[in-house]
Amino acid sequence: MYVCLCRGVTDKQVRDCAQCGVRTLGELKECLGVASQCGKCAHFAKEILKEAAAPGNHCLQPAT
Ligand code: FES
Repeated sequence: MYVCLCRGVTDKQVRDCAQCGVRTLGELKECLGVASQCGKCAHFAKEILKEAAAPGNHCLQPAT
């Protein structure tokens, strides 16, 4: 599902970033451009990031 329509970012992309160390909306914005235009996706993106970064989720690939 799309999280950010302006940048065409999906929830899977947000979860992938979270699993590799992204923890803040600012970092997510740098990585994927989320919330860099209209900003309407910011709250939803933060919720997905928070859920995906919960204990028990592990990094599949090292962050670069
Ligand atoms: S929907 Fe994400 S910046 Fe507009």
